[in-house]
Amino acid sequence: MLYPLIKNMLFTLDPERAHALTLTSLQRLEKSGVLSMMCADLQDAPVELMGLKFRNRVGIAAGLDKNAICIDALSALGAGHVEIGTVTPRPQEGNAKPRVFRLLEAQALINRMGFPNEGMDAVLPRLAARKHQAICGANIGKNASTPLEQATDDYLKCMRVLAPQADYITINVSSPNTLGLRNLQATDYLRPMLVALLEERVRLLPTLGRGLPLLVKIAPDLSDDDLYSMADLFLELRIDGVVATNTTLSRPSGLGSLAEQAGGLSGRPVHALSLATVSKLRQRLGAGFPIIGVGGISSAEHARAMRQAGADLVQIYTGLLYRGPSLIKEVAAALR
Ligand SMILES: Cc1cc2nc3c(=O)[nH]c(=O)nc-3n(C[C@H](O)[C@H](O)[C@H](O)COP(=O)(O)O)c2cc1C
Repeated sequence: MLYPLIKNMLFTLDPERAHALTLTSLQRLEKSGVLSMMCADLQDAPVELMGLKFRNRVGIAAGLDKNAICIDALSALGAGHVEIGTVTPRPQEGNAKPRVFRLLEAQALINRMGFPNEGMDAVLPRLAARKHQAICGANIGKNASTPLEQATDDYLKCMRVLAPQADYITINVSSPNTLGLRNLQATDYLRPMLVALLEERVRLLPTLGRGLPLLVKIAPDLSDDDLYSMADLFLELRIDGVVATNTTLSRPSGLGSLAEQAGGLSGRPVHALSLATVSKLRQRLGAGFPIIGVGGISSAEHARAMRQAGADLVQIYTGLLYRGPSLIKEVAAALR
C-alpha cells in the first residue's frame, strides 16, 4: 500500500543511489523487527530440492544483494531463498557510472554494472552472521582483470572460501558485462571448468559434512544448439541445477530511447525469452532436474507461467523495483 509513494520518491533518484538507500533502509527495518511483522501472515509451503529445504518457491535473484548485507531483511520479507553476489575473489569497482537505467514504460532495466562487489573475504562473515531461515546461495564470478584462461582459478577460490557458509553455489557464466564471460558458456570452456569445480567439491565435502549443490546460471540469448549442448553437459556431469536466465543483450521493440544503452536488459521484456529457455531446458533435461526460473516475473501470472514452463523455483529482481516487496508474498502464495 505504501510502496507507490516510496517508489515515487525512489524513482526521482539515480537508480544506483535508490538501490543503496533501499538496502540500508531494509537493514534498519529488519533490525527493528518491522519487516517480520509485515510478513507474519505468510504461510510456509516447504519444497525440497537439491537436498535443501526451501520454505517457499520464491527467491531473490543475484545482483540485488551483491555483498550479502540484506539476507535477513529479504528473508523477513518472505523470500524462501536469497542468491547473493555475484562475488569475485578480489573486491572491484565495476564499470564506469552511470551504468543502470530505468525503462519506465517497459518496466525494465538495462545494467552494465560489471560485478562491483567487496570481494569474497568481506562477504564470508556476513553469510556466517545471518539469522533468518532463507536458504542462501552464493553466486560467483571472475574478476574483470583475470584473463579468461585463468577464470577457473577465480571460481575455485570463491567456491573454496564461501562453501562453508553457502547453502549452494551458482556459477555465473552469463553476465553480459564482464568482457568474454559469456564465452565460458561454450562447452569447450565450460566442461573443464565444471570438472575442476566438481573435483574441488569432492575435496571440500568431508569438511563441510553436508552437500553443496552446484548450479550454473545461463543467458537467455543462446542458440538452441548451444542450449542443448549445455543441458547435455549438465546431465553428463551431474550438475545439481540450472538458473535460467540472466539478462538479455537483445532489444525487443517498444523499449523507448534508452534501449540503445549497452548492457543487459531485465524485467518484463525478458520474460518471454526466459520462459522459452526454461521450457526448452525442461524438455531436454527431463523431469526431476532442478531448474530455477528467473526473468521478468512481476506478477503471480508470470510466476505461474514460469512454473508451467518447468521451473521448480523462481527468482525475482526487476519486478521488485516496479511492484515493491509485496511481490514476494504474492508470488509465494501463487506457487503454494
Ligand atoms: C542491476 C542488476 C544487477 C544484476 N547483477 C547480477 C549479478 O551480479 N549476477 C547475476 O548472476 N545476475 C545479475 N543480474 C541478473 C538477475 O539476477 C536476473 O537474472 C535478471 O535480472 C532477470 O531477472 P529480472 O527480470 O527479474 O530482473 C542483475 C540484474 C540487474 C537488474
